[in-house]
Amino acid sequence: MFTLTDLQAKKKAGEKISVLTCYDYAMAKILSSAGIDMLLVGDSLGMVVLGYDTTRQVTMADMLRHTEAVVRGNTAALVIADMPYGSYDSPASAVANARAFLDIGAHMVKVERGSEIAPVIKALVSADIPVMGHLGLTPQTAANFKVQGREVEAAVKIRTDARLLEQLGVRSLVLESIPAQLAGEITSSLRIPTIGIGAGSDTDGQVLVLYDMLGLFDDFSPKFVKKYAQLADRIRQAVTSYSADVRAGKFPDASHSYL
Ligand code: KIV
Repeated sequence: MFTLTDLQAKKKAGEKISVLTCYDYAMAKILSSAGIDMLLVGDSLGMVVLGYDTTRQVTMADMLRHTEAVVRGNTAALVIADMPYGSYDSPASAVANARAFLDIGAHMVKVERGSEIAPVIKALVSADIPVMGHLGLTPQTAANFKVQGREVEAAVKIRTDARLLEQLGVRSLVLESIPAQLAGEITSSLRIPTIGIGAGSDTDGQVLVLYDMLGLFDDFSPKFVKKYAQLADRIRQAVTSYSADVRAGKFPDASHSYL
């Protein structure tokens, strides 16, 4: 199993960390057997799995159900559960909800934003709950979905928040949709590993939304997404062949029947 100690060791050794989002048992089995370091049960599941417009509609019940499925399928990766919107409004609710994720087998929880949630992060760390931070574009509360931190003031805020989160004891930090240079500066100034998404190559690791990189979800496609497969096309081809076989009476044949 990839552990929190391995995570820190990779930063020290200058080795890159690979992360993907994951939402179900079958994919968790495939991704962990393929050697991915960490599986993030992201609240992006609201869009790519549940068909919502935003991540805000995702509930604790949704996240617990999908995290349980990922934990059941995972064989080697560190599993991170994304705390959904509204689940960490107070230190007490944050600790109770984060515990619920650890109780079902997640190894770490992720929360969005910096100084605004400092009391929540303090409470989680004091309760011995491993925390991943998330700065830059934070979809649960974002006013827009553009690149963040281009203006000096915004960049200073992200840098200051990154330092604060490290001081508060977060174990790793997602940097989303910020200029590559800013992400690189933050990464070299921190002891904890940074995981970038739309933040260039100078972070300690990378994360992508699984459905984006597999070409399964094309409602929208940010510039930073590299499609490593076009599975939607492959699935359409397979389903079209199946339908044609069924309609032509070619499936099932003798080899797929109990004789
Ligand atoms: O929910 C998610 O998938 C995420 C990643 C984009 C980092 O938070």
